[in-house]
Amino acid sequence: MDKIKIIGGKELCGEVNISGAKNAALPLIASSILVNGKITFNNVPKLMDIKSIRLLLEDLGATCKTSKGYLEVDASFINKIEAEYDLVRKMRASILVLCPLVARFGHAKVSLPGGCAIGARPVNMHLSGLEALGASIRIEHGYIEATAKRLIGNDIYFDMPTVTGTENLMMAASLAKGTSVMRNAAREPEIVALADALNKMGAKIQGAGTTIISITGVKSLHPADIKIIPDRIETGTFMVAAAATGGDVFIKDCVPDHLGGIINKLKATGTMVETFKDSIRIINHKPIKSVDIKTLPYPGFPTDMQAQFMTLMSIADGNSVIHESIFENRFIHANELLRMGADISISNGNVAMVRGVKKLQAAQVMASDLRASASLVIAGLIAEGTTTISRIYHMDRGYEAIEKKFSMLGAQIERIP
Ligand code: EPZ
Repeated sequence: MDKIKIIGGKELCGEVNISGAKNAALPLIASSILVNGKITFNNVPKLMDIKSIRLLLEDLGATCKTSKGYLEVDASFINKIEAEYDLVRKMRASILVLCPLVARFGHAKVSLPGGCAIGARPVNMHLSGLEALGASIRIEHGYIEATAKRLIGNDIYFDMPTVTGTENLMMAASLAKGTSVMRNAAREPEIVALADALNKMGAKIQGAGTTIISITGVKSLHPADIKIIPDRIETGTFMVAAAATGGDVFIKDCVPDHLGGIINKLKATGTMVETFKDSIRIINHKPIKSVDIKTLPYPGFPTDMQAQFMTLMSIADGNSVIHESIFENRFIHANELLRMGADISISNGNVAMVRGVKKLQAAQVMASDLRASASLVIAGLIAEGTTTISRIYHMDRGYEAIEKKFSMLGAQIERIP
C-alpha cells in the first residue's frame, strides 16, 4: 500500500487550485438516477469516492463516460434497483441512491451502510423521511428495502440537521405528488448546489440553505449540465496548512463565502486572511495563538475541519479546547499526533484539551479516516525531519493529488509505493 513521505519544516508559499467538492459531487451524481436521459458534470474531482459511486451507477445499469474533470451519466436504461453490500460498504454515501431509485422506479434495495471509524452513522432520519413520503420500508439481512407506488408530498421534521438525509429526501420529494416541507434541514452549500441542479432539471425547490425547504413535486426531470462547486474542506485544509507552516499561500478557485466558520477561527489565531471573489490569501509569520472550537452544523465550524485544526492547535502558544459535537468518535488522529509529540488529553469522548508545544517530532504514523489523514499531512509538514504516513487510501477518497498540490507550494512530499 502507498505511503506519503514528508520532510517537514518548510514554509508553504505559492498558489494552489481547489478541486470540485466531493460532498457536492456525490449527491449530484446520485441525482442523475432521477432523469430518463443524460446529465453532464464538469469540475468533477478525481477521487476514489467518485469512482465508487460511478461504479455503483454502472452496476445499476446506467452508462457513464468520463474524462478529465468531466462525467456524463445516462440513467435511461437503469435495470436494477439493488445497491449491493460490496459496493455500498466501500462508501457510505451510497445511501444517496436510495431515494432517487424509489422516486423514479418505486422500489429500491440498498445495503445498510455500516458505520465507519468516526461513528455509527445511522440513517434512521433518511428512512423516517422516506416513510413520511409514503414509502414502506423493511430492513432485512442488512438491506433496506423501500417501495412506493408513487411518493406523496408531506411534512418532514429532522431531529437534527443531516446533510445526506436532507439531500436524499430533497431528491425523493422532487418527484413526489404534491408539496413537501422539510424542517430543521441542513444548510450546507452542497445542499444549495443540489437544489440548484435539481431546479435546473425542472424541480421546484425553494429555501435550500435555510432550515425550511419546500418542494413541489413534478412528474419528471429533464437533462442538464451541472458544474460542481469548489471543495470548501479542501480549501480549509490548505488554509490551515499555510497557517501552520508559517507560509504565504494564494488559494484559487474557491468560494470564501462557504468558509466563514474557518476564516473566523483562523483570524483569531493571528493568521492574516485576505478574501477575494474566488480566492483567499493566507499569510502567517507569527506564533499561532490558541483558540477554542466547537464543531457545529453549517454555518458553524465544520466537523470535517476539526482534525486539521487540532494539528494547528498542537503547536499554538497556549491551550485550546476542541469540542466535537457532530460525531461520537472523531479524535482518532489525536493518538497519532501524540506520537509526534503533541500534548492532547481527551475527556468524556468528545472534548479534547490541546496544550500547545514548541515543535512536533517527525515520526511514522497511520491514517485512520479521510480528514485524520489530512491532519497528519499537516503535522508532517510542520515537524522537522521525515514523517511517513501509511494507509493513505483514506486520503485518496477525498483529496485530489494532494501531494502534488503541496509540492507545488514548496513542500518536500512524495508518495512512496
Ligand atoms: C456528511 O455526512 C458528509 N458526507 C460528512 O463528510 C460530514 O462530516 C457530515 O455530513 C457532517 O457535516 C457527505 O456529504 C458525503 P450527517 P452525513 O447526516 O450526511 C447523525 C467527509 O469527511 N445522523 O449530517 O453522513 C450522524 O450520526 C465526510 O467528507 C443520525 O443520527 O452526516 C451525525 O452524528 C465525513 N441519523 C449527525 O447526524 C441519520 O439518519 C450528522 O450527520 C443521519 C445522521
